[in-house]
Amino acid sequence: MQPDHVPVLLAEVIEWLQPRPRGIYIDGNLGLGGHAGAILEASQPDGILVGFEWDAEALREAKKRLAHFGERVHFVHRNFASLKESLAGLGIQEVDGLLLDLGLSSLQLDAGGRGFSFKGSQPLDMRMDAREPETAADLLNTAAEEELADIFYYYGEERQARRIAAAVVETRQREPLATTDQLVGIIERAVPRRYHPAKIHVGTKVFQALRIAVNHELENLSRVLEDGAGLLRAGGRFCAISFHSLEDRLVKRAFAENEILQVLTRKPITPGAEECRRNSRARSAKMRVAARREGRA
Ligand SMILES: C[S@@+](CC[C@H](N)C(=O)[O-])C[C@H]1O[C@@H](n2cnc3c(N)ncnc32)[C@H](O)[C@@H]1O
Repeated sequence: MQPDHVPVLLAEVIEWLQPRPRGIYIDGNLGLGGHAGAILEASQPDGILVGFEWDAEALREAKKRLAHFGERVHFVHRNFASLKESLAGLGIQEVDGLLLDLGLSSLQLDAGGRGFSFKGSQPLDMRMDAREPETAADLLNTAAEEELADIFYYYGEERQARRIAAAVVETRQREPLATTDQLVGIIERAVPRRYHPAKIHVGTKVFQALRIAVNHELENLSRVLEDGAGLLRAGGRFCAISFHSLEDRLVKRAFAENEILQVLTRKPITPGAEECRRNSRARSAKMRVAARREGRA
């Protein structure tokens, strides 16, 4: 296994999720199956895991890695926002635990070619689920200037959103946007030098914003947070690992405002220095945990 394939906060997930024999667990983000494998191990010999993964490539890899668990694992090639319908389809009404490990897998980031990284020249795609119709290029080439500015501002917290949106619209009147390096060039020219951030790439926030918009990430997250809580058995745990403040805020609020949940982590759990050193992706991870209250609301 390459270092980046190491699942984030693995020991903490097992400690807080408390997988047990006979339990039913949901992994909303199978990815390469790292957390899923550990949950299946910890719930030997008959715990069940239902794993969601909307990226065909990641799912193929997860299936390979988890094949030895046989019928204890169910693979769902769908958006985790379909949790309720998908579980009903499997005849599951209640679950013992839920895990979300949001964002991109190292496969999506490292393999390249899908526009998630601003390094090199890649098609501006950014869909995690290739069955979805709209790519980042479609969005950039058709959305109104104001909508683009809002996307960059709200989903990227990019202060130069208006300037960048204006530059995108000005460019696409001459030629449609197609590649990541084209977009990086537009951002670099649109943002005055003195506003180029010191610690991150000048395109980082716009790329994050586009990915969130193309994949409807915040809408999906809100939905799974609500539906997931409703499916938990009394005492069952909901663990959610997020990687940026927009996600973390949604998780924090959804847990705190849902009266059927009790928040177990007043402050989020974060990886220690050693994990961050081994796995750079862990640095921004925050895990929050809630439990379903006893007795039905
Ligand atoms: C950070 S990775 C998960 C890594 C995994 N926990 C592991 O240990 O290997 C996130 C994965 O979630 C998937 N994903 C993100 N949003 C999703 C959604 N709404 N529905 C289904 N899968 C999603 C991505 O395609 C990606 O493969």
